[in-house]
Order: sequence, then C-alpha cells, then structure tokens
Amino acid sequence: MKVLVTGGMGYIGSHTCIQMLGAGITPVIFDNLYNSKQAVLQRIEKVTGHRLDFVKGDIRDKALLTKTLKTHAIDAVIHFAGLKAVGESVEKPLEYYDNNVNGTLVLVAAMQEAGVKSLVFSSSATVYGDPASVPITEDFPTSATNPYGRSKLMVEECLTDFHHANPDWSITLLRYFNPVGSHPSGELGEDPQGIPNNLMPFVSQVAVGRRDCLSVFGNDYPTPDGTGVRDYIHVVDLADGHIAALENVGAKMGLHIYNLGTGNGSSVLEMVKAFEAASGKQVPYQVVARRAGDIAECWADPSKAMQELGWKALRSLDDMTTDTWRWQSNNPQGYPDI
Ligand code: NAD
Ligand code: UD1
Repeated sequence: MKVLVTGGMGYIGSHTCIQMLGAGITPVIFDNLYNSKQAVLQRIEKVTGHRLDFVKGDIRDKALLTKTLKTHAIDAVIHFAGLKAVGESVEKPLEYYDNNVNGTLVLVAAMQEAGVKSLVFSSSATVYGDPASVPITEDFPTSATNPYGRSKLMVEECLTDFHHANPDWSITLLRYFNPVGSHPSGELGEDPQGIPNNLMPFVSQVAVGRRDCLSVFGNDYPTPDGTGVRDYIHVVDLADGHIAALENVGAKMGLHIYNLGTGNGSSVLEMVKAFEAASGKQVPYQVVARRAGDIAECWADPSKAMQELGWKALRSLDDMTTDTWRWQSNNPQGYPDI
C-alpha cells in the first residue's frame, strides 16, 4: 500500500512514517516545511534504512497534489498538515482557517480528481471542548473555544457532510489526546520553534538548560494535586494507531471516529516528577495563574479503538519521559539546519 502523508516531516507525521515502513506500507511525504526541517527526512532514512519520496509543496496547491497522487499511484492519504498553536490561532484566525480548513478542502478535491477515496484525518481531543465528565467517549458533544479547535471541528463537519454525499469513501477522524515522547533511537522527536506552548517540550527544555523554570498554569483545579490532568500518549503508540486505522477501516466505506489516548490521566506535577526521574535532572517550577481556555481534566475512553481497530497504547509514562530525554539530550537545539 502507498500512502500520501501530508505533514509527514512534522512531529507526529515523521514517527508515523517510521512505523509505516516497519509495517510494509510505503509513505510518500508531502510537506511545505513550514514547521519542520529537511533533516527529518535523513533521520527517518537513518532509522529505517529506507529511502523515501518527499514532495515539497503546500496542500493548498491542488495541481501539485493531484499530480503527486497520480504519479505515485497513491492508495490512501493520512492528513497531518496544518497549523496547531492555540494562542497563535487567536491572533491569526484567517491563517488557521485557510491552512487547516481550506487546505483540507483542496486536498479532498485533489483526491476526488485522482480517484483516491481513503482519508485519515488528524483531529484532536480539543473538539470535546470542556467535557462534562471523564473519560471521554466518541459520542460526547463537540464544541470549540478558539480558532484552532474550531478549525478541527469545521474539518470534521465538512468531512462528515462530504461523506454523506460520497458514501463510497473511507474517512477516519482520529482524535488525539496529548502526544508526547520521541522515537526510542533518540534521532527523532518534537522540535518546536520558539517558546514551546505545550508542557512536555517546555519541561524537557528546562531539564536540558535551554530555559530556567517551568510555569505551572494553576494549582487550584478540582484535581488531586490541583494541577491540570491530561491523557499523555507516546507518539509511537499514536503512530501505530494510524496503521491500525489504515489496515482495519482504511478500505472500508464509512465515516469512522476514534479516540487515540491511553485512558489514564496524569497531572502537571506528576509529569514533572516522572521527567525528573527519567532524566536525573531537576525541573524547577513556579505556580502561576491559570492559562485562559485550559480545562481541569481530559482523558480518553479508548475502548472503541481497541474493539474495532485492535489497537491500544502500550508504552508507559516512563517510556514517554525516557525517550523524550534521549531525544532532547542528544539534540539540545533540535534538528540541525541543513
Ligand atoms: P507539526 O507542526 O510538527 O507537523 C505539521 C506538519 O505540517 C509540519 O511539518 C508543517 O511543515 C506541515 N504543514 C503545515 N501547513 C502545511 C501546508 N499548508 N502544506 C503542507 N504542509 C504543511 O505538528 P504535529 O504535532 O505533528 O501535528 C500533526 C497534526 O496533528 C496537526 O494537524 C495537528 O493539528 C494535529 N494534532 C496535534 C496534536 C499535538 O499535540 N501535537 C494534538 C492533536 C492534534
Ligand atoms: C493544548 C491545546 C489543545 C491542543 C493540544 C495539542 C490549549 C488550551 N490547548 O492542549 O487545543 O490540541 O495542546 O497541541 O492550548 N501546562 C503548564 N505549563 C506549560 C504548559 C502547559 O502548566 O508551560 C499545563 C496546562 O495547563 C495543562 C497541561 O500542562 O494542564 C498540558 O498542557 P498542553 O501540553 O499545552 O496541552 P493541552 O492544554 O492539553
């Protein structure tokens, strides 16, 4: 099977390409390198021993996408490409709607033209808004509180309408919880540009000495230690979830929706402790005000993915923190510019 991976040079996409090659699936990467570096390709090739096809392009370029789908005889698409910073999306909403929503519409139009009818889309647990209870199942109500989240919700709704009109397609919406960790080789990992927005990259940059101190956003939530609780999932488990989706429903007509999470919640302070244990480094922190838009707790009920895809997350919190530390300590400044 040949799969076009939009955004395949990014954090989750690059790990997914590695797992695909291990499963005998051939990825073709399509990425404009807006938030990733050319060095990722070399790292994937180094870890897997395979050469990869990479097309540098923007998902809003329909002609290039259609040509790529046709010339590579693509069977299915995994669509990671998009912008993902919540704060930035509040400042630049049109860029988010253009890239994430319009970009997906152009991709689907190109797939129609090329006759490719299998799509796996990177959605997010953010579409559950502030859930009434945890764990969260796929039938919970959806909502959005910022343009990033709304762009994911809009894409889900567009794809649902599109599927009503085109029931012979297979469309899979994967709602990720909190992806963390790195490839165990230490060659690939998360490499945010500028100040990290998310907890784990911030913690690992403090541990490696790039930043002085973590700000813990509030310790007055109704949670056991007062800090926010999330469902952190190892990025390699998440990558395997895509392969399970391709193999189990990628050729089945229908609109399929799955949570990809572990089913366990961990607090900010638990993550800091786990990271200190894995790295042997101190992570100094100070408690500051809550971050606007944050919720107290969020974790998945992943049983639907287990039942229908035969997939579950296997890696522990220790794997997540140990692997993150290996990547961060081997690559303190992230990927090199080449
Ligand atoms: P990432 O930024 O590391 O990767 C996204 C990739 O897409 C980058 O390589 C970027 O250069 C590329 N890209 C962006 N716009 C493009 C365009 N118009 N044309 C071509 N390429 C483009 O992000 P990630 O963490 O790997 O996330 C992948 C997907 O998963 C995103 O859609 C994101 O919204 C979603 N997601 C991520 C998380 C998370 O915590 N990382 C959680 C839930 C959902
Ligand atoms: C955030 C986004 C979400 C997006 C997800 C993945 C917000 C409000 N939500 O989720 O839409 O899908 O990232 O990109 O931005 N924390 C700190 N200090 C930090 C960073 C985070 O205490 O410097 C805390 C947060 O308050 C939260 C937890 O750590 O309790 C996890 O935060 P983060 O990694 O940003 O993920 P989410 O907020 O779950």
